[in-house]
Amino acid sequence: MRRFVNFNDNWLFAPDLIGPEIPDSAFKPVTLPHSNQIFDHAANVDNQDYQFLSTYRKHFKLTLPNSHSQALLEFEGIMLASSVLLNGEQIAENLGGFQPFTLDLTSLLQNGENTLTVYVDSRERKDIPPYGHLVDYLTFGGIYREASLKIVDSVHIQDIFIRTEDNLSSPKALCQVSLSQAEPGLSVSASLLDSGGHVLKTLQSEADDSEVELVFDDLPGVRLWSLDHPRLYTLQVSLHRNGELIDSDSARFGFRSAEFMPDGGFYLNGERVKLFGLNRHQSYPYIGAAAPARLQRLDADILKFNLACNIVRTSHYPQSRHFLDRCDEIGLLVFEEIAGWQHIGDEKWQRLVLNDLKAMIERDRNRPAIILWGVRVNESPDNDPFYQKTNALAHQLEPSRQTGGVRCFLGSKLLEDVYTYNDFSNTVIDPPVTPYLITEFAGHMFPTKIWDHEERLIDHALLHARIQDGQLGNPRIAGAIGWCAFDYATHKEFGSGDRICYHGVMDIYRLPKWAAYFYQSQQAPERKIVLQPATHWTMGDRSGGGNDPLTVFSNCDQVEAIIGESHLGRVNPDSKHYPHLAHPPFTLPIPEKYSAWGQSEFYDLQLVGYLNGEKVAEHWVASRQLPTRLELATDTDQLSADGTDMTRLIVRITDAYGNPLPYAASVIHFEVEGPADLIGQNPFPLIGGQAALLLKARQEPGEVHIKARCAGLNEAKIQMHIQKPSPD
Ligand code: GAL
Repeated sequence: MRRFVNFNDNWLFAPDLIGPEIPDSAFKPVTLPHSNQIFDHAANVDNQDYQFLSTYRKHFKLTLPNSHSQALLEFEGIMLASSVLLNGEQIAENLGGFQPFTLDLTSLLQNGENTLTVYVDSRERKDIPPYGHLVDYLTFGGIYREASLKIVDSVHIQDIFIRTEDNLSSPKALCQVSLSQAEPGLSVSASLLDSGGHVLKTLQSEADDSEVELVFDDLPGVRLWSLDHPRLYTLQVSLHRNGELIDSDSARFGFRSAEFMPDGGFYLNGERVKLFGLNRHQSYPYIGAAAPARLQRLDADILKFNLACNIVRTSHYPQSRHFLDRCDEIGLLVFEEIAGWQHIGDEKWQRLVLNDLKAMIERDRNRPAIILWGVRVNESPDNDPFYQKTNALAHQLEPSRQTGGVRCFLGSKLLEDVYTYNDFSNTVIDPPVTPYLITEFAGHMFPTKIWDHEERLIDHALLHARIQDGQLGNPRIAGAIGWCAFDYATHKEFGSGDRICYHGVMDIYRLPKWAAYFYQSQQAPERKIVLQPATHWTMGDRSGGGNDPLTVFSNCDQVEAIIGESHLGRVNPDSKHYPHLAHPPFTLPIPEKYSAWGQSEFYDLQLVGYLNGEKVAEHWVASRQLPTRLELATDTDQLSADGTDMTRLIVRITDAYGNPLPYAASVIHFEVEGPADLIGQNPFPLIGGQAALLLKARQEPGEVHIKARCAGLNEAKIQMHIQKPSPD
């Protein structure tokens, strides 16, 4: 029977190439995921700082159960190239940082102690995608995703691939089980389980070949995977030799059909769904791309539940399985694409892309959330021979899922199933061809910082509103995915003065700008009522001063502003300018006596939201503007004591009503007591009135007390519980 060994613990790391003769004392202990460089700040990150060679070493003891056992080690992602040695002998070399790879350790394993060495090259090597030319994002370095070791019989289950048939009235699953080798006397049995773990059906088959196909049909109770009800099923597969169980494995999937059609529409389970989403990079402040499961999953939750998106594009590479798992679980559609950025390298480079594409599809083809494979290097020129190969490979590995390939120019040869286009015209053009999906807009056409003046923040938010409105109104467009969800660190050729691309609707800490309020306001009020004014509520931030007109993002059907004693009257959403949005922004006129620069009648702003004539929400903004409260928050109050688990530690300076004050620039001092470490500068120089540090659990359980202080404000406190990790 297969057995898993935790392989994320007890690594040693040295930021240099270190030979076997050098003692362990030259290394420092680390756990995976690990970034070869920790930055204490989010901005001004220099890509030179992660571009070096490093050595990871791990000692482990392993006794295989018998002579036909195998030890298979999987790395989920090492940036950018790596060479792996076991007990001094090289066993693999891997080029590329976004795909998993598996090594067979068996022949070099010693009884007793073994030493694994991984030499990691995190330089931006031109021979490996995405490099070769300029790239607008940082890749960072290190063994930045997890590793796991499994012990199996030499005859074992290698892969489970499940295709569901499009006939929705009688769902059917075709399950292909691949064995490491064929042998007489083998048989496979597979059980279909619902999300509660109930077995719905079990099938068995002799395994005369290394490929075994089982067809699950006649499944009356089975329910479809959809955006609102992302129902997942599990296929549990067992392998027997002459009746004795020798291996078992499982795969999760969903029953659904997903198709971009010639009429321009995208159809999920036969129903048209307009795609509404944002792009996501996998980078984080301080830790590069080495984020643990909790942070990965949080990004999916933010996109679906906070930003009300129904699709995300994994720009511009395959992302963590934890992020994708969560997309499957919550019903967030995914456009997943291969690594690269505008540049196509030589034949060897292209072969790496083909290998990456294969690894991506083989890793992710059971996922119901993924609706499109991106088989072009983002925004690269046409190259028919190359892209014929990527399309053919994707279709061969997975005949039922469609392909896209992101370009930034019209008239490109369509070799894919969907024309996926980055439209930076700040307008919505009529598609030259269908199916057609807008895969980026806004971005560098409108970099926006949370501490920008309010006209800029409003225009940024309204640009997103306008493009999303335009696409929703054009039936020939399947949807639009804006650039982008979160600000990100980049190379010097792209960012603002601090090497950040301020293109996110949220900042790099995943905290909202006003464009995020627009996205939030598009959700149904039954899910959450949103009432967010787009204002700093000052008399002197706009050119000419004042606050007229006031933009409000809300899913209420009427909004009223109250200033001082004056009720300014209920206003309807601006459906004249945004006829296609579910919840158009509100534009509230503010009379001159409250909005001219230097007026003496400057009061707090009170907003009231109404649904069906009933008051359902209220929001206040202080006219005082001065820092009033220091607030601390985390995403969870419990972490696992595994040495890798993390949460954001969000800090805000707010007005009396909890609105962040974007011009608050204070130094915050933190104190942490207990088994967790703070990642990020301490003291922390806050700009923009909001930021987040990270809090990382150590490998011991206990209570953690965090305090934050800044001059002139209250002390903020928060408590966390670090729990013993669960045995799996
Ligand atoms: C696109 C590119 C993205 C990002 C964006 C900024 O051209 O695909 O990666 O650089 O521009 O707007």
